[in-house]
Amino acid sequence: MAKIERKCKEVLDKTEWIAIATVGADGPHLAGTWGEYVKALGMVNDDTLFVPIGGYQKTEDNLEMNSRIELLCGTRQVQGNHGPGKGCRIRGTGKIQKNGEKYEEVKKKFPWARGVLIIRAEEVYEQL
Ligand SMILES: Cc1cc2nc3c(=O)[nH]c(=O)nc-3n(C[C@H](O)[C@H](O)[C@H](O)COP(=O)(O)O)c2cc1C
Repeated sequence: MAKIERKCKEVLDKTEWIAIATVGADGPHLAGTWGEYVKALGMVNDDTLFVPIGGYQKTEDNLEMNSRIELLCGTRQVQGNHGPGKGCRIRGTGKIQKNGEKYEEVKKKFPWARGVLIIRAEEVYEQL
C-alpha cells in the first residue's frame, strides 16, 4: 500500500478535477470527478478516497469485471520541480458501494449520489 501524503495530498486538495480511468472489455475508459467533492469526503488512512457517484454506469460495469483503477490530477497552485504546477497519479483498486455507513454519509453531502466509489491507493506517483 502507498500513502497519499506530502505533495500529492496538497495536489489532491487543490486540484480542480480528477480523471478516473478503468478498464473494460473494449479498452480504457475515463470518467471525472471534482477535487472539491473528494476533499469534502475526506481520506481514510491516507490511502482511501471516496467519490460520490451519480452516473458512472460504464465505470461500474468495468470495476465489476476488473477492479483496477487509476487517477490523475494536477494543479498549477502547487510548486513542481520545474516551476508552478504539480500532478499526482494514483493506481489501485476501486469498488462501488450503494448502501452502508459510508454511503449514508455521502448522501448527506451529495443527496443526488446513487452510491460511493471507494478507491484504495496502492501506488502513488508525483508528476512534474
Ligand atoms: C470534471 C468532471 C467532474 C465530474 N464529477 C462527477 C462526479 O463527481 N460524480 C459523477 O457521478 N459524475 C461526475 N462527472 C461525470 C462523469 O464523468 C460522467 O457521468 C461519466 O460519463 C461517467 O459515467 P460512465 O462511467 O457511465 O461513463 C464529472 C465529469 C467531469 C468532466
